[in-house]
Amino acid sequence: MLNDLLARNVAWSKQRYDEEPDYFTRLAALQAPEFFWIGCSDSRVPANVVAGLDPGEVFVHRNVANIVHSSDMNLLSALEFAVDALHVREIIVCGHYGCGGVKAATEDLPHGLADHWLEPIRRLARSYAVDLGREPDLEAQRDRLAELNVVEGVRRVCETPILQRAWRRGADVRVHGLIYGLKDGRLRDLDCSIGPGHFQAAQSTQEAVQ
Ligand code: CO
Repeated sequence: MLNDLLARNVAWSKQRYDEEPDYFTRLAALQAPEFFWIGCSDSRVPANVVAGLDPGEVFVHRNVANIVHSSDMNLLSALEFAVDALHVREIIVCGHYGCGGVKAATEDLPHGLADHWLEPIRRLARSYAVDLGREPDLEAQRDRLAELNVVEGVRRVCETPILQRAWRRGADVRVHGLIYGLKDGRLRDLDCSIGPGHFQAAQSTQEAVQ
């Protein structure tokens, strides 16, 4: 298995080199991605592949069920580096339909550590129980919950001091929520984008209240 993987790597690097001889030296010198992607660890949703992006074009953080925990040092370190050092312009929180993490969060079964990890999704399921109850079946409920988890993730990213600081200094960075369909390979925009304008409006409301 590993030998197969290494052989595929040799073939890929050779093909890349043949297409563009300075490809690897160019990428080795600098990464300047426009995008930071927060997605699910699911092997069927690789950021570069589904977004049609080449190496060097997207900085990636993935975890089970693409959850934005506001105390996740791994995610926060990647987010800070993406915003403050790489100056990415677009941050994408991407969930997917048929997510095993979302499914686990809706089951009344013990999953060990995953139950701690997935707690924010359980909380969302309780908060939106009435809305979710209107869905026709369990699969549709879970897919709607996957969407809600993305919208919540976008909100949480925007609330981090990292984004608040970036917007305060005038950085033009936006946060978007997308959902990927395993059945059709399509990314859908959940229309929950937040950018500097939204932040400025919130600031002026705060100032008006004070
Ligand atoms: Co998933």
